[in-house]
Amino acid sequence: QPGLVTVFCGRNYLYHPTLSSTNDQAKESARRGAPEGTTIVAEEQSGGRGRLGRSWHSPRGGLWFSVVLRPPLPPARAPEAVFVAAVAGVEALAAYPGVQVGLKWPNDFVWRGRKLGGILTEVTGELDQINHLVVGIGLNVNLDLQDFPPELRTGVTSVREITGGDVSRSELLRQLLAALEHWYLVWLKQGFTPVLAAWKRHNACLDRLLRVLTPEGELVGRAVDVDADGALLLATAGGVRRVVTGELQVEGD
Ligand code: BTN
Repeated sequence: QPGLVTVFCGRNYLYHPTLSSTNDQAKESARRGAPEGTTIVAEEQSGGRGRLGRSWHSPRGGLWFSVVLRPPLPPARAPEAVFVAAVAGVEALAAYPGVQVGLKWPNDFVWRGRKLGGILTEVTGELDQINHLVVGIGLNVNLDLQDFPPELRTGVTSVREITGGDVSRSELLRQLLAALEHWYLVWLKQGFTPVLAAWKRHNACLDRLLRVLTPEGELVGRAVDVDADGALLLATAGGVRRVVTGELQVEGD
C-alpha cells in the first residue's frame, strides 16, 4: 500500500482477487499469529457475511476488507470496537464531497436513510483478555445498484450513486486505515468515552421514531440517546428501554 500514513494498520497488507469472506481470512491469519494491523482486502467476496447471520452482497467495485487488532482489553469490551470503526469510517468518507454519511446504531453507514456500508467485528479471547479482534468493513463504492439483485436494492446506496462518479478505492482504504488507527489508539489510551462522544456527533437516528427488532421482540419508540456502554436508549410508550442488540428500522425512511 504506497502512501500509507499509518504505523501498523495496513502495514501487513494482503490482497486477494476473490475470497469467501475477508473476516474469515483475517481470523485465520490472526490464529496463525499475523501482526496487529494486518489488513486483508478482497476484490469480491463469494460468502461475505453481515451482522445477525445475514449474507453480505460483495461484488467487484466495492471495498471489502478486514483488519486484525489485538487490544489489551477483556472480551466484554469488544463491542466498543464497532463504534471505533464506525467513527473512523464516517471521518474517512467525509473527505469526499457530498458523501456526508451518518451512523445508524450501532454500525451502519447511511446516506439520506440509505445504507452505504456496514461493519462486522468478531472476537476471540479468554475471560480476561481479547486474543484477537477482527474488524470487517464493507462499503458500496463504485457500484451500480441496478446490478444488485432486486431484493437487495431497497434502502441501499453506493458512493457512485451519490457522487455520480468513481472514487479511488485504494485512496479511500488509505484514509480508512489512517482513521481506524487514530481512533483505535484514542480508544486504547483514553477509553471509550471520547469514541462514543464522536460517534454521537454522527448519530443519524437521534430523535427519530424507530421500530427495533430485538431478540426479545419488537419495540417501537424514539431514539433518545446511547448510554455509556453503547446501548441504544429508546423512549417507548412503556418507558425508556435499553437495547443491546437489534435491527433498526427508521420510520419514514
Ligand atoms: C452489516 O451491516 O451487516 C455488516 C456488513 C459487513 C461486511 C464486511 S465486508 C468485509 C468483511 N467481510 C465480511 O464477510 N463481512 C465484512
